[in-house]
Amino acid sequence: MLIYEALKKDHDALKPLLDRLVQSADADDATRMALIGQIRDELVPHSRAEEAVFYNSLRSIDETKDLVMHGYAEHMEAETMLRALQGQEAVKVDWTTTAQKLREALLHHIEEEEGRIFESARQVLAEEEAIAMAEAFEQMKPEVREGGFMQNTLDLIANVMPQRFATPLRNFLHK
Ligand SMILES: [Fe+2]
Ligand SMILES: [Fe+2]
Repeated sequence: MLIYEALKKDHDALKPLLDRLVQSADADDATRMALIGQIRDELVPHSRAEEAVFYNSLRSIDETKDLVMHGYAEHMEAETMLRALQGQEAVKVDWTTTAQKLREALLHHIEEEEGRIFESARQVLAEEEAIAMAEAFEQMKPEVREGGFMQNTLDLIANVMPQRFATPLRNFLHK
């Protein structure tokens, strides 16, 4: 399997969950929180592994650098919205509006990834590299799932830092 197929498989799994989220305004709290949990468990390991394996390779290449930097920012934005929904009792956000925004933002992000980012990546990555990346991606996801929220935030920061600063931080986080 190539990295593009591995990533698309996750995107396809996420989409129906986002549809259900938008339609869940009238469901009870437990149902909505379970749905948020499912989305988080799909989205966060996907995003961290995607950044570490796919984005981090592409950001050292001129042709793809700007595209992936934009992608990191969209990951951050989506996870912030997800947390707003999770803490909705406290901040009293309008569920449907925020759920719709999150769905729109992620659909846009997925479209850009599968479109412009995949297109550029195919031009700079050899097929063996794309296969190796898919394997590394699948291996990394369960590890992210086990890490806590703080661990994930720090990993996200490590993923957007310049490589020479990110490596010592990552070594520290995972020692
Ligand atoms: Fe993705
Ligand atoms: Fe992404």
